Amino acid sequence: MSLLNQIDKNNIPKHIAIIMDGNGRWAKKQGKERIWGHQAGVESVRKVVEAAAEAKIQFLTLYAFSTENWNRPKQEVDALMELLVNTIVAEVGILQKNNISLKAIGNLKSLPGNCHAELQKAIQETSANTGLSLVLALSYSSKWEITNAIKLIVNDILNNRLSKEDVNESTIDQYLCTHSIPDPELLIRTSGEYRISNFLLWQIAYTEFYFTKKLWPEFGKEDFYEAIIDFQHRERRFGLTSEQL
Ligand code: IPE
Ligand code: IPE
Ligand code: MG
Repeated sequence: MSLLNQIDKNNIPKHIAIIMDGNGRWAKKQGKERIWGHQAGVESVRKVVEAAAEAKIQFLTLYAFSTENWNRPKQEVDALMELLVNTIVAEVGILQKNNISLKAIGNLKSLPGNCHAELQKAIQETSANTGLSLVLALSYSSKWEITNAIKLIVNDILNNRLSKEDVNESTIDQYLCTHSIPDPELLIRTSGEYRISNFLLWQIAYTEFYFTKKLWPEFGKEDFYEAIIDFQHRERRFGLTSEQL
């Protein structure tokens, strides 16, 4: 029986974010090239998107390519960008069919022209869908995002569109790429690494973390449900005492 049935329907996280890590190591274990692992990783994306839709999650953010990943060998970067375009083109119909809207966060202008164009097209085409919002973090890093937000805020202050006195935490929220997205309640990282790697630093201030040793291509629907169930057994205190909750 699927773990989906064990999930408490009254305590579903609105937003789950995932650092999908371990594709390269998974490929190496089978004596294959790293890109083989990235291709297998797309299958896990498919499964987890389906699982998130079935569990009625509203936002699923997937860390697909970081600012730092641009420094990988050119051959791997090129292959990843090609995989991205091909996957978007191949999957947009399925997104439509399942009422899923595609969104993206990151320095999208730095993506190759065809990637950027196909991505924008898919975002546009699925924008009216009301089910799961699938957010891809592409050419994303949190320090880039925060720096960008500060530049936008300073610019608006200098142009009298915003006053310094009005800058508060929710102003900052509004200038981040994630402005229309609630903070994630749960962050999952695969592959046994215990780090954040420049992902959503501002937004994870009170997020619950779930780490698993499974490599991303080994991660499937039941693993996703297991993470949600684990999350549901935690007490989120937000600085209060247990008795106050
Ligand atoms: C995650 O897998 C995918 C991306 C970062 C694009 P990796 O490619 O980082 O795989 P490992 O960590 O080298 O095994
Ligand atoms: C984080 O994975 C980025 C993505 C999953 C896209 P990395 O493999 O790039 O992270 P580090 O280098 O191990 O911290
Ligand atoms: Mg990695």
